[in-house]
Amino acid sequence: MYQNDLFLRAARGESVERPPVWLMRQAGRILPQYRALRASLSGFKELVSTPDLAAEVTVQPVDELGVDAAIIFSDILVIPEALGLDYTMVEKVGPRFPRTIQSAADIDALNPPEEAPGHLGYVFDALDATKKRLDNRVPLIGFAGAPWTIFAYMVEGGGSKTFSKARRMLYKEPALSHRLLERIAIATAAYLKEKTRHGADLIQVFDSWAGVLPPDHYREFSLRYIDLICRELGDVPVTVFAKDARHALPDIGKLPCQVVQLDWIADPQQARTQVPGKVLQGNMDPAQLYAPTGQIADGTRAMLDRFGRGHIANLGHGVYPDTPLDGVKAFVNAVQDYRYA
Ligand code: CP3
Repeated sequence: MYQNDLFLRAARGESVERPPVWLMRQAGRILPQYRALRASLSGFKELVSTPDLAAEVTVQPVDELGVDAAIIFSDILVIPEALGLDYTMVEKVGPRFPRTIQSAADIDALNPPEEAPGHLGYVFDALDATKKRLDNRVPLIGFAGAPWTIFAYMVEGGGSKTFSKARRMLYKEPALSHRLLERIAIATAAYLKEKTRHGADLIQVFDSWAGVLPPDHYREFSLRYIDLICRELGDVPVTVFAKDARHALPDIGKLPCQVVQLDWIADPQQARTQVPGKVLQGNMDPAQLYAPTGQIADGTRAMLDRFGRGHIANLGHGVYPDTPLDGVKAFVNAVQDYRYA
């Protein structure tokens, strides 16, 4: 079906000759062609909401880096927007929500979650346009934020070191919190299913703020909704990334997902014992890509040796926008030159 289906074969746990490789945030400022296109636009949201441009930047890293998978150019924050909570992307600051969720009335004023896909036609159009441009070269990854991470932005109103307002709501208003999380989960599951109908071959769920919750709250307010999404997706392979929540790895190992993404603090061998029978993805320190290229190649091979088979090579978080392109290429090439013993 694909000229290069290594990524999907590895994700399904099949035996492969070398690990596939892609990078979180591969479509972005690391590429000169992205920076050139972005400079001609009003902002990030214009790029996200214009299907043909989103498709163009999705394919850029496939052309420039030769990665084994594309990830659709979009953002996790399209879900709050589809629910009726608009955001702005402030240059060098990040997302800002002028209105936030504080009460039952705020939740009731949101759009019905089942209708979320109806507001996201531009994403499905971007997937269609991307499939055409990819012309069956490599598989396409779809993604969404985990309900907890989306909840955190909707309650907090933007990024935060502690997300204390979002965490406060879990303690003071647990029933209300579940009501909002459930709505987000229903919207997200419907959205992701529609993405798979438009050609997404695998879905990655980003729980970027998993690390701010204590273990019991993580289970109650995050894992159960990720579980719901995995079950709704049925046979479609899913990758779960709970950043900074290594305590949760044994529970994540029990989710009906195929792949578990690790952050760069996680130890690959320890993760193997905690998550038996699943494919692991990751987990080079993104800061290592600033090193001299020879050192990057050595570090990449050392990482691949530590993971062994059942691995998809990636970083432990998104590539930093100012990473030298030569460093990124040294990483990708070192993986592609590698062969399992
Ligand atoms: O290449 C890819 O990985 C696909 C594109 C992608 C983007 N955002 C594009 C983007 C993906 C997978 C995301 C997910 C996302 N968005 C996450 C989860 C992953 C993670 O990093 O933990 C989160 C938390 C967000 C929310 C978000 N979007 C923030 C906090 C910011 C601002 C900070 C920043 O990195 O600049 C964004 C903006 C954003 N999303 C950019 C890109 C390329 C930069 C905007 C620009 O180019 O001007």
